[in-house]
Amino acid sequence: METILTMQQMVKRSGVEASALRYYESLGLITAERSTGGQRRFPRSMLRRVAFIVFAQRVGLSLDEIGRELARLPTGRVPKGEDWSRLSATWVSRIDERISELERLKAGLDDCISCGCLSLDQCALSNPDDRAGRLGPGPRYWLRNRTMSGLRSK
Ligand code: FES
Repeated sequence: METILTMQQMVKRSGVEASALRYYESLGLITAERSTGGQRRFPRSMLRRVAFIVFAQRVGLSLDEIGRELARLPTGRVPKGEDWSRLSATWVSRIDERISELERLKAGLDDCISCGCLSLDQCALSNPDDRAGRLGPGPRYWLRNRTMSGLRSK
């Protein structure tokens, strides 16, 4: 029989606010039974799901994506370590994407702070989805700006 946790215990052990836990539950990312008084009662295994959600958000997954990932877990039993490892196996590429994005932002930071245009076509800060990434590695709009228009010469 799995240990059952109250909301207060979940908050304390997960470090996640009750409002966030209620939100995750409303999205179906975690589940809770109700006591006779209507209070949430979480199976202890929900702690691992909450940790997964927190980590996945830090990696950059949206809540929709996290929901799709969690749906890949086996049902009818508490997921094992290898089940969780299978989900996080794809995160390496996401982390690499984030590193590339942050490097691009870092490269454009000085000029963007002095510029302020936030151009959707040209600005590294306004290009969070890395549309320019299709053009090749590195800060493509930036490189193009420097080589074609000379607008951002240092
Ligand atoms: S704010 Fe102008 S290029 Fe980023």
